[in-house]
Amino acid sequence: MLEMNRLYNMDCMEGMRELPDKFFDLAVVDVPYGIGEDGSKNKERSKLAVAKNYKAFHGNDLQPPECEYFTELMRVSKNQIIWGANHFISRIPVDSHCWIVWDKENGETDFADCELAWTSFHTAVRRFKYRWHGMLQEDMKNKEIRIHPTQKPIALYSWILSKYAKRGDKILDTHAGSASSLIACYRAGLDFIGFEIDTEYYTAANMRLTVEMEQIRINFDELQEEQEEYTQSSIFEGGG
Ligand SMILES: C[S@@+](CC[C@H](N)C(=O)[O-])C[C@H]1O[C@@H](n2cnc3c(N)ncnc32)[C@H](O)[C@@H]1O
Repeated sequence: MLEMNRLYNMDCMEGMRELPDKFFDLAVVDVPYGIGEDGSKNKERSKLAVAKNYKAFHGNDLQPPECEYFTELMRVSKNQIIWGANHFISRIPVDSHCWIVWDKENGETDFADCELAWTSFHTAVRRFKYRWHGMLQEDMKNKEIRIHPTQKPIALYSWILSKYAKRGDKILDTHAGSASSLIACYRAGLDFIGFEIDTEYYTAANMRLTVEMEQIRINFDELQEEQEEYTQSSIFEGGG
């Protein structure tokens, strides 16, 4: 059985096969869209901000997953948020009242202005505005290091979790890429499992996730140590 709060270097179809029905409360997934955006041609696309070229990821973004992937995703999760579904909606033959619009504030480029996610929720369409364009990011003081060609910001996933997940929920990301989604889960105190088939991107993402988890643990341990020191000195000084 797979353990929670881990990123696995495996094909998500194999991973999901090991999991019981409706095991996850929410799946937030960002599958290949089938438009060839694997990262290898990023540099030619923008006049505003020079983008890096990356190693192409598994499958070169040539095909979205087959219908059986979506059937399996819906078997293992109660609710789903599926990025890029406007590119392959015929493979998810279910109407949605609640699409999510991420306005990336791309400026004058031939990249899309927004990305769309299909959701299984019955609430209204919602928009999240967060600049994310090459070196230009919404939060320039706390810039995220980009390790993956189609990396989404942690802030986007944090916003999603604040709106569509609740305390105690288990979250699945079948195509974790840079692990931004898993870092957002960890920060929100939600349990998660992620899959990433590409070994190179898995290694970089797992490092990113581990550093995040260690960092928070170190901060917490330091806080506890400070608290203990303060309590002890208060006792010795007769304070209380
Ligand atoms: C669109 S990217 C995900 C980007 C991610 N949302 C992020 O913020 O970094 C899709 C990822 O899925 C991976 N992938 C493709 N097929 C897969 C499969 N069958 N199982 C697991 N991962 C897969 C690719 O290697 C790629 O890294």
